Amino acid sequence: MGSASVDLKTVKLIHGGDLSSASREFGIPKEKWIDLSTGISPWSWPVPSVPEIIWQSLPDSGDGLGQVAADYYGCDTSSLLPVSGSQDGLQVIPSLLEQGKVAMPVRGYEEHRRAWENAGHEIAPYRSVEQLQQLVSTGQVAHAVVINPNNPTGEVIDRQLLMSLQQQLQKNGGWLLIDEAFMDARPENSLATECPTPGLIVLRSIGKFFGLAGLRLGFVLAPHVLLQKLEEQLPPWNVSHPARWIGKQALADDAWNRAQRQRLHSVSEQWHQQLAARFSSLQFIASSLFISGIGDAGLCEEIYRELGQRGVLARVFDEIEGQRMVRFGLPTEEKLPKVLKVLDQVAEEQLCTVG
Ligand SMILES: Cc1ncc(COP(=O)(O)O)c(C=O)c1O
Repeated sequence: MGSASVDLKTVKLIHGGDLSSASREFGIPKEKWIDLSTGISPWSWPVPSVPEIIWQSLPDSGDGLGQVAADYYGCDTSSLLPVSGSQDGLQVIPSLLEQGKVAMPVRGYEEHRRAWENAGHEIAPYRSVEQLQQLVSTGQVAHAVVINPNNPTGEVIDRQLLMSLQQQLQKNGGWLLIDEAFMDARPENSLATECPTPGLIVLRSIGKFFGLAGLRLGFVLAPHVLLQKLEEQLPPWNVSHPARWIGKQALADDAWNRAQRQRLHSVSEQWHQQLAARFSSLQFIASSLFISGIGDAGLCEEIYRELGQRGVLARVFDEIEGQRMVRFGLPTEEKLPKVLKVLDQVAEEQLCTVG
């Protein structure tokens, strides 16, 4: 996340997965990297071969995707709109809402902050759930953005509490936007089932849990009137027919989805332990698709560099109040031995420096 003085309207935001930049930075060819810099599942839903007719067709809103997605999210079909990635929705939504102050996590997916600022809203940053509650209950903000679980901090806010915040905001005509791009492994925490509720917007992504970030498919769940306004702002054929065809099958594949949830729970738990055992001076927080460690800014930067020099790409986040965060995506079984070897070398290097 950028520091408060940076003008996000003009700066190109940095995201994980940029192997071309990493290659330039560390002088390692793209194909040699082990990329742990994103929260995208390294196990993708197995896409079947796409029939020619699907490639030839323009998107058809009557193809059944809406019903399958509504079943998966547990909401009504009329309260759901497919978009080309949740990014597509989050970028436009702030311009559809009345301008005001919006509560925003101080560390989080930066595209939210940029979108709200670009739409003329004023940002009220919060560092903790208590601060968020305070901003809402005292009427200091008109709207609130919650990333649940948050990327990169991994923090999760309880759904009961979120519903209470939503009701308080809605009383004054405000909105609660919950970004659930990383929610699929813990659907019990989702507020998708509450949609449509006046004043509530939920964003979902097919990119992360399904490992299909390149497909560019996501959903906005909100009251129908807002979805109509959103659709008017988006180009026609915004989501391609092949993306709809693939997304529909992935969402309907209960057996794969169950197995993926279990795999993510067990791999992320192990990965958390493996990282915490090696970098004890960082404080780790686990989430199903990434593990993030917070600590001294210099130390985080050094860990990121040491790993990078050895061909393992993590993601380091900007300094906030003297601390940085390093985020580690999940390694596959095949890559794990090499990754652990590199982690051991870097951890040893740290001990020598400290010692
Ligand atoms: C928290 C969060 N929300 C939304 C997005 C956008 O994802 P997509 O457009 O692929 O759904 C990202 C991408 O990294 C993210 O981290």
